[in-house]
Amino acid sequence: MQTVTTLSDLRAVRASLTGVFGLVPTMGYLHEGHLSLVRRARAECDHVGVSIFVNPTQFGPREDLAAYPRDLDRDLRLLESLGVDVVWAPTLEVVYPTGFQTWVTVEQVAAPLEGRHRPGHFRGVATVVAKLFNAFTPDKAYFGQKDAQQVVIIKRMAQDLNFPLEVVVASTVREADGLALSSRNVYLNPEERQAATVLYRALSAAKARYDAGERDAEMLRAVMSATLAAEPLAREEYVSAADPDTLAELERVEQGVLLSLAVRIGKTRLIDNFLLP
Ligand code: PAJ
Repeated sequence: MQTVTTLSDLRAVRASLTGVFGLVPTMGYLHEGHLSLVRRARAECDHVGVSIFVNPTQFGPREDLAAYPRDLDRDLRLLESLGVDVVWAPTLEVVYPTGFQTWVTVEQVAAPLEGRHRPGHFRGVATVVAKLFNAFTPDKAYFGQKDAQQVVIIKRMAQDLNFPLEVVVASTVREADGLALSSRNVYLNPEERQAATVLYRALSAAKARYDAGERDAEMLRAVMSATLAAEPLAREEYVSAADPDTLAELERVEQGVLLSLAVRIGKTRLIDNFLLP
């Protein structure tokens, strides 16, 4: 496995790798969710690249950029053991050199949900992912369903900007009690960790109603809100039952629904979703 920092070193390594190339973009502090993407890429591609970069432009001024967990040595050991060919761990200056002023802004699908609560977040995500696509020129790029709106935005951007690659989406990896794996779970104290199962419980309650035939989207949102309200350590930021493609809130579910929510558990902000056919 080659680990590189500069863009020119990355391009030199990439040029030596022929066949189908798969990219897994990450912000590091890897967990089984990230590793599931790497394993999938390993199985489907001739060569696999991983980026590790805590992208400051996708964090708001009051968000957790400084506290975001990092452990590059451990990440590199894990990626080496999975047979990754190349890791790009660029510095801030490599990705955003002095004078940087060009941004990728995806419009409608970035506006609701996370976009409404984290202004500027998806501008940072789309810009860095476009740069990663240019740097690695992958044939396939792997993303987790855990970040459902991110997937919709990246697919839109890849299509709109003519990136010649396939966006592959992998299902959410969860703890035994349903909590979706997230680098931010390390912020939770034991009590909060227990309370954090409320995201999965809220989604499961709405899914049970859906499976029983409920198609009124407002009812599905109400079931999620009621579940969150019953957990004293949880504070709802939003619940949503939206069109999986446009992300517009639904009145009635006709062609499937993306149930999603954002919840604060103490100071920690967690998101999760179910995509129902
Ligand atoms: P990060 O949060 O590190 O996640 C990297 C990838 O792992 C994303 O595609 C994310 O959806 C996926 N992932 C995270 N938790 C997962 C889980 N429990 N199950 C399955 N996949 C999971 O997402 C980002 O970084 C950044 O926004 C990035 C795309 C790298 C741009 O900076």
